[in-house]
Amino acid sequence: MSLPALTPRTATAVPVTLSDGGTAALRPLEPDERAPLLEVFAGMSGQSRASRYLVPMPRLSEAYLRHLSATDGLAHVAWLATVAGRPAGIGRYAVTSEDPCAVEVALEVVDQHQRRGLGAVLLDAVTTVAAANGVRRLRATVLPGNEPSRRLLTRVAIPLRFEDGLLEGTAPLRLLDPARVDRHAVVELARRTTPAPCDAHWTAPCA
Ligand SMILES: CC(C)(COP(=O)(O)OP(=O)(O)OC[C@H]1O[C@@H](n2cnc3c(N)ncnc32)[C@H](O)[C@@H]1OP(=O)(O)O)[C@@H](O)C(=O)NCCC(=O)NCCS
Repeated sequence: MSLPALTPRTATAVPVTLSDGGTAALRPLEPDERAPLLEVFAGMSGQSRASRYLVPMPRLSEAYLRHLSATDGLAHVAWLATVAGRPAGIGRYAVTSEDPCAVEVALEVVDQHQRRGLGAVLLDAVTTVAAANGVRRLRATVLPGNEPSRRLLTRVAIPLRFEDGLLEGTAPLRLLDPARVDRHAVVELARRTTPAPCDAHWTAPCA
């Protein structure tokens, strides 16, 4: 009698260890998935929300929710971090309108889980996916007093300069060193959950 073929276990999330020894899991947000966006937003203080959106943001409007959940795994990518099964942070990038080879990066971590290394983990995950997708440049805009973001952006060598009341910077895409995530696992999960081949959009125009 022949044995049934073994089905490889397909990972649906990438496990990570945080700086305090705790654990989290990472996965891409699915297109139109809104519940984690709302839960992360609910877990952020007014100050954290203002830091993320650069203006006071007491609630997420329908239009904003539609925009934030319109991910496609290529031009607009968002990865969710969960802690004990609950949404704890989101890292995202979106291609900029002026430069198809550049993406704007944005991070958000619920107040309860800030300062545990999740911001670095999310930055590593989305920049890893960006690199796999052929992105060449990273751009970021933060409020001047945003020390955690400034520190994270320094680690991927984005020089920030003061412009119109904000700190802005663009730099060639560089990954965090050392890595904060299992990059092979991140790229593998990204490729498996992205409908089109990861390198279809940018390899040619950005070469
Ligand atoms: C920015 C943000 C995502 C960082 O998340 P986090 O999980 O706290 O980040 P980490 O734990 O990985 O810490 C990153 C760095 O910031 C430092 N840091 C974190 N919180 C800090 C604080 N309150 N004050 C000073 N430094 C802080 C950490 O020590 C670390 O520095 P290091 O790399 O030199 O050791 C989080 O603070 C946040 O969600 N803020 C509100 C939204 C926001 O500002 N988004 C970014 C703009 S798009």
